[in-house]
Amino acid sequence: MSLQIKSFEEYQDAYKKSVEQPEEFWAGIAENFFWKRKWHTVLNWNFKEPNIKWFEGAKLNITENCLDRHIYQNGDKPAIIWEPNDPSEAHRVLSYKQLLHKVEQFANVLKNNNVKKGDRICIYLPMVPELVIATLACARIGAIHSVIFGGFSAQSIADRINDAKCKLVITSDGSFRGSKTIELKSIVDDALMQCQSVDRVIVLTRTRTAISMLKGRDVWWEDEIKKVETQGNPACPAEEMDAEDTLFILYTSGSTGKPKGVVHTTAGYMVYAGYTFSNVFQYQPDEVYFCTADIGWITGHSYIVYGPLSQGATSLMFEGVPTYPDAGRMWDIVAKHKVNILYTAPTAIRSLMAFGDEYVDNKDLSSIRKLGSVGEPINEEAWHWFNDKIGKGKAPIADTWWQTENGGILIAPMAGISPTIPGYAMSPLPGVQPALMDENGKEIEGNDVSGNLCIKFPWPGMLRTTYGDHERCRQTYFATYEDMYFTGDGCYRSPEGYYRITGRVDDVLNVSGHRIGTAEVENAINMHSDVVESAIVGYPHPVKGQGIYAYVIANHHHDDINQTRQDILQTVTRLIGAIAKPDIIQFVTDLPKTRSGKIMRRILRKIAEGETSSLGDTSTLLDPTVVEAIIEGSKEFK
Ligand code: PRX
Repeated sequence: MSLQIKSFEEYQDAYKKSVEQPEEFWAGIAENFFWKRKWHTVLNWNFKEPNIKWFEGAKLNITENCLDRHIYQNGDKPAIIWEPNDPSEAHRVLSYKQLLHKVEQFANVLKNNNVKKGDRICIYLPMVPELVIATLACARIGAIHSVIFGGFSAQSIADRINDAKCKLVITSDGSFRGSKTIELKSIVDDALMQCQSVDRVIVLTRTRTAISMLKGRDVWWEDEIKKVETQGNPACPAEEMDAEDTLFILYTSGSTGKPKGVVHTTAGYMVYAGYTFSNVFQYQPDEVYFCTADIGWITGHSYIVYGPLSQGATSLMFEGVPTYPDAGRMWDIVAKHKVNILYTAPTAIRSLMAFGDEYVDNKDLSSIRKLGSVGEPINEEAWHWFNDKIGKGKAPIADTWWQTENGGILIAPMAGISPTIPGYAMSPLPGVQPALMDENGKEIEGNDVSGNLCIKFPWPGMLRTTYGDHERCRQTYFATYEDMYFTGDGCYRSPEGYYRITGRVDDVLNVSGHRIGTAEVENAINMHSDVVESAIVGYPHPVKGQGIYAYVIANHHHDDINQTRQDILQTVTRLIGAIAKPDIIQFVTDLPKTRSGKIMRRILRKIAEGETSSLGDTSTLLDPTVVEAIIEGSKEFK
């Protein structure tokens, strides 16, 4: 069975087969990959424990699928095009042959540094090709990578390293982001004061920022490569992995506690990332594909690295930010590299839109054929701007809905093949069986209905567990509805049966497409010595999608409450990272609580949204007058 669907009829056939004969369907798709040994069982599953196994018995290495198998025919084809932060610096192109060589070299560096199959490796690097190289080098030797987004703080890194007991960290001296230089190594140094498990740090040179190098622990990337070169044989055979061996851990926020390590395994993830990349973007062999995500998030894992490379695509990665040196940078990149497919986030679209059309109108965007959106609901205004200004009304937009836990896109149109409607993710991909559930745990049948979005049947790319805590995985995703994977999203199914994601129904925020747990931010704020208690809610933000609204009870030790505000922001930045900083901090004397002491977030959400006339029932509150005071105080921020 060929991997790529070519028409709407083929989609319908594929979908039908994927539901009626899922094992045959996925076995057929998996035939398009390179296996050292084939599976004996396609699927073994239950959502009770949960226990999900795809392609059991198979042996493979994902890097052979992403690199080696393309060398014979496409060795000189660009695998990675890298565009630096500073447009005056030269861009880099790595062909498949060159990328394989570099991955093998660095895999040997890892081996020289005593990394073995199954070891956890933390990667905290800027968006440079070495990030792809490091990631694939881990996969080459069967080490498990845990990539941490460059915007996270030392404390967040330490928490993640300790949770996974990483033994080695790969970082750089610093990173360039717009006009800023961020001292990555120094942040890692701070983190490692709390980490016993790490005995080696490999440091790439990027910014030439002065850094400390600890004797016996820290080594330079470049020196280690030289050692491998002098050792002679640059090749590094791919480790033979079981289908269900862990490929990577990626931390993501939930509604409670610390971020959890989502575990993805080798074969199912590979098949799903490759299949969805090829189909959603309808990738053609000559196309240049540009995903603007950071590899520190799942979108970068699946749709900069594994999906595109497994399909022999040319994947463009960008080190900088879309507004540097000006708000036309993305369009300059599109023109310079003749980008055919652009996959980005609504928050980026909205932010660029706000700078005005003069940054777009004089750019050559004629190469663009297909567009993609991911990470949050796309509002109609942004959709139309993307469609009209960037796609010139000719490039289909795939609004792709999925999550870190899913490994790949679950609901999306296939560019140019399926119909599209602004704000709709449209239809499930083959293999994906959505269900809308009501409050009582019953499936809502029919169309023109809303409910909580669940998935009824496993797909190869789904998470297998949360690292070190399987019960948390069960509780979070499989305990709310019997025999269902619960997404945490609300969803509407139109009269025609198309899906529109309406946003999270739990205490998870989506700020600029970044997932942030309210409890996490509250815990960070509460660490500030002046803070007694806090409550976080989201509110509609014109650029970020959602903004963070903090209600804080504080003892003002400083007369200047703005100073306390700044101190709270600094505390959050230090404990989580700047991405979690509240946009609004309202000081309150009390929070609305039920008689049992539970904060009524529903009310706080309404106040943050400015909908104070429809607060709903407040009779269960311990002290209803609290609400009046908070409404009064909120006027300052309207
Ligand atoms: O609420 C949904 C939203 O982002 C959440 C997943 O976040 P994360 O795991 O960080 O992954 C983001 C990128 C895959 C979802 O639960 N979300 C993601 N894509 C969309 C979306 N909401 C609406 N439309 C989308 N296309």
